[in-house]
Amino acid sequence: MRTQVGIIGAGPAGLLLAHLLHLAGIDSVVVEARDRGYVEQRVRAGVLEHPTAELLREVGVGARMDAEGLPHHGLVLRFDGADHRMPLTELTGKTITVYGQQEVVKDLIARRLADEGQILFASTDVRPHDLTSDQPRITFTDAAGKPQELRCDVVAGCDGFHGVSRRSIPADRIQAYERLYPFAWLGILAKTPPSHEELIYAYHERGFALHSMRSPELTRLYLQVAPTESLADWPDSRVWDELHARLELAGSEFSLREGPVVDRLLAGMRSFVVEPMRYGRLFLAGDAAHIVPPTGAKGMNLAVADVRLLARALTVFLSGGGSALIDDYSRACLRRVWRAEHFSWWMTSMLHAFPDDDRFGRRLQLSQLRYVVESEAAGRSMAENYVGLPYEF
Ligand code: FAD
Ligand code: DHB
Repeated sequence: MRTQVGIIGAGPAGLLLAHLLHLAGIDSVVVEARDRGYVEQRVRAGVLEHPTAELLREVGVGARMDAEGLPHHGLVLRFDGADHRMPLTELTGKTITVYGQQEVVKDLIARRLADEGQILFASTDVRPHDLTSDQPRITFTDAAGKPQELRCDVVAGCDGFHGVSRRSIPADRIQAYERLYPFAWLGILAKTPPSHEELIYAYHERGFALHSMRSPELTRLYLQVAPTESLADWPDSRVWDELHARLELAGSEFSLREGPVVDRLLAGMRSFVVEPMRYGRLFLAGDAAHIVPPTGAKGMNLAVADVRLLARALTVFLSGGGSALIDDYSRACLRRVWRAEHFSWWMTSMLHAFPDDDRFGRRLQLSQLRYVVESEAAGRSMAENYVGLPYEF
């Protein structure tokens, strides 16, 4: 088998890259470890930045997002026994869109298949080779159990944090930067209408909680939990009790609606970046190159921003336009990556209860929260990061 760009991973990064390359007349094949059903059902991100939604629209995959996604103009920071609304649109002129990552993935898969693109689901033992030559290869075993080889001009490593691409780079050719957090997130999807029309980020002495949604009938909720806990430690009754305790305020009319839990997830929290995001003819994009803690809702948006640059750079390179853009790819991506790393670390640090936190630390968090909602300058700074800085930034 031969293609121009061999893409490892059919998450948002790999699928969008394949679509953008197709629009530019560049051929690609996506090799994915999981089957289609798994990839389409995996519940993860929910918030699309303004630039992400615009890009999906511009490249013709935004129709269902526009019909079913929920535009939001603000969010609520709940602390100190009160709600503080952050008017995102008023502060920035922009909106965010609540639309599930798996819906974006479904839309991209449908479009790739309609355009006769190749996505090789359920491929095992996927390995990139000869990355420093100008004819790299990807070997794998296909869904029927047959060994395969995909020869290409470049490989795009879009296989997430646990994928094979980053691990194929010799350790002395990349630098990793990492920070771990002493907590995890437990997320549930509940079949019940949201209890409030906006997202609520709740700072509470028992730990952080987040009220989000997927549709007028589906609520998404997250709880900060200890990193040592497992899902088995959290039967539904305990999850609901904790959510009530952290989200409901004495004297407020907000009351959390319960419903059947249809999905549960436990996610560790880390910040992680590798530099550079390239090794020879291997280009990393999305979670394969960087991870943010989910508090700022940045992960999938960064994956989209990476492949926007990568598609352009590869198109120029593979059309004979020279290597200037691919040579600049890592530097150009890392500017936005580090901004999002800072924002996600900052949101995480401001909103979570740190196990060894002293009283001084909690006072600092409350002071920062108050500043963000009381100072227009501080509020605008948070809002412009949250809705997504322009790609030109
Ligand atoms: P992935 O989505 O991880 O896709 C990688 C693909 O590669 C997968 O399909 C995987 O099966 C495949 N793969 C892995 N290994 C191999 C292999 N060896 N061979 C072939 N294929 C392989 N982001 C936001 O922007 N907004 C949010 O609101 C948000 N909330 C989040 C909430 C939670 C609880 C979590 C966990 C994440 C959240 N994120 C959010 C982050 C977001 O989900 C990720 O950043 C996003 O999935 C990254 O996309 P990706 O395509 O780079 O990687
Ligand atoms: C969701 C996830 C986030 O990490 C976040 O900050 C906001 C919303 C969500 O899954 O809905």
